[in-house]
Amino acid sequence: MSQLTSHLSFVAAPSGAVSGDITVPGDKSVSHRSIMFGALAEGTTHIKGFLPGQDCLATMNTFKAMGIKIDGPDNDHNVTVYGKGLYGLSAPQELLNIGNSGTSIRLLSGILAGQTFSSSMAGDNSLNKRPMNRVVNPLKLMGANITASDNGTPPVNCLGRKDGKLLTAIDYDLPMASAQVKSCVLLAGMYADGTTTVKEPGITRDHTERMLTAFGYPVKVEGNQISIEGGHKLTACDIEVPGDISSATFFMVAGLIAKDGELIIRNVGMNPTRVGSINILKQMKGDLSVINERMAGGEPVADIVVKSSKLQGVNILEHDVPLAIDEFPAIFIAAACANGTTRLRGAEELRVKESDRIQAMADGLVTLDIDCTVYDDGIDIIGGQLTSGTINSHDDHRIAMSFTIGSLRSTGNITILDCDNVATSFPNFVALANQVGLFVTQG
Ligand code: S3P
Repeated sequence: MSQLTSHLSFVAAPSGAVSGDITVPGDKSVSHRSIMFGALAEGTTHIKGFLPGQDCLATMNTFKAMGIKIDGPDNDHNVTVYGKGLYGLSAPQELLNIGNSGTSIRLLSGILAGQTFSSSMAGDNSLNKRPMNRVVNPLKLMGANITASDNGTPPVNCLGRKDGKLLTAIDYDLPMASAQVKSCVLLAGMYADGTTTVKEPGITRDHTERMLTAFGYPVKVEGNQISIEGGHKLTACDIEVPGDISSATFFMVAGLIAKDGELIIRNVGMNPTRVGSINILKQMKGDLSVINERMAGGEPVADIVVKSSKLQGVNILEHDVPLAIDEFPAIFIAAACANGTTRLRGAEELRVKESDRIQAMADGLVTLDIDCTVYDDGIDIIGGQLTSGTINSHDDHRIAMSFTIGSLRSTGNITILDCDNVATSFPNFVALANQVGLFVTQG
C-alpha cells in the first residue's frame, strides 16, 4: 500500500484585483459516478468533461483492476467506459488502492457487497483514518459479509457471496446527512432481493439518483425517501460533467474578497443540492450573479459573475450545511474577511472529512491572527485582518486551496505545507489562481 509522502508547498503572496473569464474542472461527484455506472452498464458510455484528478483516477483504476476497459481521459477530458453489466466485474488480483478518496471507497463498498468475489480496499494515511462503519453497518444489515478494521477505519474487506444469493433489501434511516452513505446503500440495493428504501435526515447531493435515471434504472424519490428495486439493469449513455461548484467556490470567494475586479466562472454545476455556498455568500452580501442558466447532461449549469464586495458576517442556516458541506473551508476565509461574526453550527460532519476541517481551519486562521471559537459542531469566526504565517494543510486539498485564496487579503506571505493533495480535486488550481491575479509559487 503506498503511503502519502507530501512535500509540495505553496507560497501565496498578497495580491490585489482578481479578474478574468475561467472554467473550473469537472465535478468530482459526477465524475466518480460516471465511471461506476458506466462500468456496471450494458454498452459503451461516453463521458465529456471528466475531472482528471487523483480521486477520480483512483476510481477509474479500481474498475480497470476489475476487468473494465476504459479509454482516457484524453486532453479534452473525454473518457470512454466499456460497460460489462451489473455482473460483469472480475475479481481484483490485489488490494484495491483507493488513495485519498472517501467517495470511491464508500460507494464501491455498496457495489462490492453485491459481488460474488472477495475484495479489499484501503487508501492513503488520511483515508485510512476515516470512518467506514457508516457504510459497513447498513451493508451488514443487507446480509453482506463486509468488515472494517476494529476501530471502524479501512481496510474494508468484503467476502464475496459465494452462494450467489442476493443481498436483502432494507429500509434504512440514515444516521447522518451523507450522500456517500445514501449512495452506497442504493448501489447495494441494485443487488438486493426487493425494494431498498433510504430515508435521509436532510437534503444531500442527489447525483446518484439522477445518474440511475440517466442510465435507465428505476428509482423512486418521495420527499426524503429514495427507493430502488433490485434486478433491473443499467444501460450505457452519454454523460456531460458540469464544472465543479466546490472548485468554483474558491474562485467565488477570491473574487469577493479581492480588493477589486470582476471574475466570470463558466459552466458551473448548479444542482440544487449543491448550491449552499452561493446561498451563504449571497447572505454575506457577496455580489454574485448567476447567469445563462441551462441544462447540460441532466444537471443544471450556469455562469457565475463575481464582483469584489464588502462581506458581512452571518449566522449560517442549518438548512445550507449539507448543501455546502465541502465549501466551508473557503467560506471560512470569506468569514475572516467579513465585518462582524460568522456563526456555523450543525456541521459536525466537517470533523470527519479529509481532515478535521473545523480544527484545521481554526488553527490556520489563528496563525493568521483571526479570532475564532471552535465548537463540537461548528465555529464562530470574527472578521479581521489576515496577516502572514505558515499553515499546516493536514494533507487536505480544500484547506490548502482556502488559505491560498486568503492571500488576497493578507498583509504578508502565507506558506501552506503539504499541498500534494490539491491534485485530488483541482489539478490546475495554481495555474488558474495565477491567471486571475493571485501570486502563488509552488515548490
Ligand atoms: C460526496 C458526498 C459528501 C462530500 C464528498 C463527496 C459524494 O460526503 O463531502 O466530497 O460524492 O457523494 P458525505 O456524504 O460524507 O457528506
